[in-house]
This record gives sequence, C-alpha cells and structure tokens, in this order.
Amino acid sequence: ELPFSESYKIKMVEPIRKSSKEERQRWIKEAGYNLFNLKSEQVFIDLLTDSGTGAMSDRQWASMMMGDESYAGATSYYNLKHAVKNILGFEYMLPTHQGRAAENVLFSALISEGDVIPGNTHFDTTKGHIEFRKATAIDCTINEAFDTTAQHPFKGNVDLNKLESVYLKYPKERIPATIVTVTCNSAGGQPVSMENLREVYELSKKYGIRVIFDSARFAENAYFIKTREPGYASKTIKQIVAEMFTHADGMTMSSKKDGIVNMGGFIALKEEALFKKAAQFNIIYEGYITYGGMSGRDMNALAQGLDEGTEFDYLETRIKQVAYLGQKLKGFGVPVQEPFGGHAIFVDAKRFLPHLPKEQFVAQTLAVELYKEAGARAVEIGALLADRDPITRKNRYPKLELLRLAIPRRVYTNNHMDVIAAALKNVYHRRSEIKTGYKIIDEAPILRHFTVQLTPY
Ligand code: F0G
Repeated sequence: ELPFSESYKIKMVEPIRKSSKEERQRWIKEAGYNLFNLKSEQVFIDLLTDSGTGAMSDRQWASMMMGDESYAGATSYYNLKHAVKNILGFEYMLPTHQGRAAENVLFSALISEGDVIPGNTHFDTTKGHIEFRKATAIDCTINEAFDTTAQHPFKGNVDLNKLESVYLKYPKERIPATIVTVTCNSAGGQPVSMENLREVYELSKKYGIRVIFDSARFAENAYFIKTREPGYASKTIKQIVAEMFTHADGMTMSSKKDGIVNMGGFIALKEEALFKKAAQFNIIYEGYITYGGMSGRDMNALAQGLDEGTEFDYLETRIKQVAYLGQKLKGFGVPVQEPFGGHAIFVDAKRFLPHLPKEQFVAQTLAVELYKEAGARAVEIGALLADRDPITRKNRYPKLELLRLAIPRRVYTNNHMDVIAAALKNVYHRRSEIKTGYKIIDEAPILRHFTVQLTPY
C-alpha cells in the first residue's frame, strides 16, 4: 500500500522567519510572558489557534470574486443560507462577524440573570457571555474527559446523570438551553458521539429544554463519528452532519474553524419565534439580517468552505496531520492527551512539569519554554484561561492544565510538525531545570489570558 498524503497541493506560499534564542528571550520578556502579545513576525510556527488561520482553497477565492455587496438581500447571503439549509438542515440563519458574536446575539434573546446553562465544558467566550449575563454554566462532561490517560472514543460526551440532576434541581424556566460543544474544545478537542447527541436531545425534550450546539468544529466531530462509532463507517460526512443536527434546536457557529474562512460566524435555528427575537439583536449588534457583520464575498467563501469542510478527504488529511504530531510526541515520551483531539494536540502540563505548583501557571510556563526553544507559539488552557470565580474572585484551578498545539487547516506541512515535536522533546529532556513558573502583575476582570502581564515567580 502507498503511504498517506494530503488531498490537495499548494498554489500560493507565505514566507515565515526563524529567529535566534537570544531574540526570543528578549521578545517574550517584552511581551510580559504572554504569547498573545508577540508580533506574528516573532513567531516561526504559529499554533496559537486553528481559528481563522486556515488556508482558503482556489474555489473559495474564486467565489469571493462573485461576492454581492448589496446591503439587503445579497445573492451571497442566499448562497450561505442555502448551504446552511442543505448541509446543516436549519431553516433560519443569521450571519455574525464571528462565533462569540453569535453567542452575544443568541444569548441576548435567550439568557437572563439567574439562569443555568448545562452542557459539556463550555468554551471560554461562551462561558464569558453566560457569566456576563449573571447566569451560570454547569459542566456536565463525563468524568473520563478529565483524565488525559483514560481511553474513551468520545470524551466530549455529556454525562446524562449529571444533566438530569440539573434538570431536576432547577425549574425549566431557569434553563433556557443546554449547550453541547462539538467537538468539545475545552475538553481537548474531544468528540461527542451520535448516541450521546441523541440521548441528550431526548432527555432535554422530556424536560422541555432547548438544545443548542456550539458547532465550531462540527465537521471534525462527524469525522470521529464516522471512524469510531459503530454503524457510521459507510455513511458520508454530510449524512452524518445532517443527522447530528437533527438532535439540536439551534446552533452557534464560529466559521473560522470548520467553515475554513478567516472571519465569520452565524446562528442557525429551527424556531421562527426565537429567530425573530434574535434578529432584533443581530441588527443592533452585528448588522442587517442579510449580512450581520460579514461582507458578501466572505459569505460566499463561507458557503463554499462549508461544502469543502464536510468532505471526507479534506477531513482525513486534517485529522491525520494532528494525529501525526500526537504520535511523534508520544514516541518521545511527552505526556499528551489521548485519544488525540480533532484540531489540536494537548500536552498535559501537570504531568510534564509535576514539580511546579499550580499557583505558578504550569501550562503557561511550558508555553514560554516552547517559544524560547523553537519560536513556536502554543496556547495555555489552564488556570490563566479559567479566570477568577466571578463571585469569590479567587483563582479557579481547572482539573486539567493543558498546552494546546492547535493546527491551522491546510497551512503547515508535516516537516513543521517534526520541528514542534523535536522542540518539545528538548524541553522535556531539560524539564527538571525549569524550577519556577510565573506570577501575574496585571490582569483584566474577565477573559484575562488575552492581555495578562506576567513575571517570573
Ligand atoms: N466556541 C468554540 C468551541 C470555540 O472554540 C470558539 C473559539 C468560539 C466558540 C468562539 O468563536 O473566536 O469566532 O468568536 N475558539 C478559538 C480557539 C478562539 O482558539 O479555540 P470566535
């Protein structure tokens, strides 16, 4: 058999620049040991996020030339609306400028003070938009998700007992929705099984609760269903995607991930009444309902991206590259979360640097070391990101301290993956020399990780 290779070839390239260790020591200090503060020219391989960092196809660029910039009723809007209807199955759609904007608009129509919103681990902007409205996100993810060594094919699954106990504890008027994130980013890009999606929906209908999917990586979730869940191997990704969304009343989307565009988002709904309510907020916050923060050309590129992003060959290339990096790291003994996630490899920083106390931001310390080693930028998914408790203002220490290596779509080759793996191997070999972490010298009251300033402990 021939070896596996990419399902595309490269038509346009963008130079990237290496730097010296001395330069990087200086730059990271100037950045307050916060990798968000680095200039992109100071980064060689950028694995900060897979969001908005993908490479568009020739067909997407071609569709941009056909963008219709009419304020109202643009053909580009209808192209996007049809893609959402045909691929995802939703009748009603509102474009927004990105995923958190979709959350802002939908939650304005849905969530009030004192509400509770259960789900698998909510993404930080989702949680931020819930807590900003003085409501509470309740994490009902299965326990296996919090053990990076536990083997489970669908670690993003919702624990039905935990979910039902929320439904029993609170009146249904206080639970405007359950949010299921597919794949579950904060749990390590872990998928949710079709069986679990169906059971969550059935249980929620029994209690009269609406189900919303946070759908940023819905296509990667479908790939895992196809390759891991009995009964789905011979189904196409598009058939699986369509079935997934039969178990949702609505969705929010960050199109910057599985839509393979650099900017954009949307809300899609089955209920007309909720659509009408949300449309009012869309007009106030985003723009008129037929563009909502997106230009016509961008809606065209997204319509095309949704089609390409739900093709098996593309997804196989994508997810096998992520697994390639995971296997390499595992081979070097670097502790990584297993099974590997869809969009990223998550390094278990607590197992990597077991001697560092949690107060010194273990995963952030590792992020700084990786940058110094190779000019590679990853992101902390740990105590910095977890923010303080909104009521007690105490630091929240999540069960997992992870360093996320998020792989942009169609951007880097496996040679780049080799560099990342070798760099982490080097850091791993000198891990006992990393004696201290970092402390905060300045932070914002919410979503602090973006702007935080740190200093060595
Ligand atoms: N939901 C999930 C699951 C996400 O991963 C993100 C963004 C959002 C919502 C918000 O979307 O950025 O378009 O406003 N995740 C990015 C990341 C930022 O790096 O994981 P957005």
